[in-house]
Amino acid sequence: MGEQVFKRCVACHTIDKGGRNGIGPNLHGVVGAAVAAKPDFSYSGAMKAKGGVWDAATLDTYLEAPMKALPGTRMAFAGVIDAADRKALILYLEAHSK
Ligand code: HEC
Repeated sequence: MGEQVFKRCVACHTIDKGGRNGIGPNLHGVVGAAVAAKPDFSYSGAMKAKGGVWDAATLDTYLEAPMKALPGTRMAFAGVIDAADRKALILYLEAHSK
């Protein structure tokens, strides 16, 4: 189910290990990683200033409404409104963070 939801992200993100950055950074290993940690991706000032670590809680807040949760983010995506969809999506990201 998370894989289905991730289809909304693939226009901009890859998830495979060592995958290329697209419009957004490769997301392999993002769960548990510091925010804005991919050295070869050019993040917005807002993302670089955010700080902290991506965990289930911070991802849930961000992915519900990225541009509201982090004003100034360059991720032009409205959000995953459905809480169950977000939960499945975050499990999918977690499974690709090992
Ligand atoms: C229209 C393109 C686009 C779409 C669609 C998109 N993103 Fe992004 N995403 C970006 C960009 C660009 C950034 C970098 C944002 C910044 O620097 O402010 C980003 C950043 C992120 C980050 C932070 C990564 C880090 O290294 O700190 C996460 C997590 C993320 N996106 C998850 C998702 C997920 C999950 C989806 C699907 C539900 C999604 N994105 C859909 C473009 C997109």
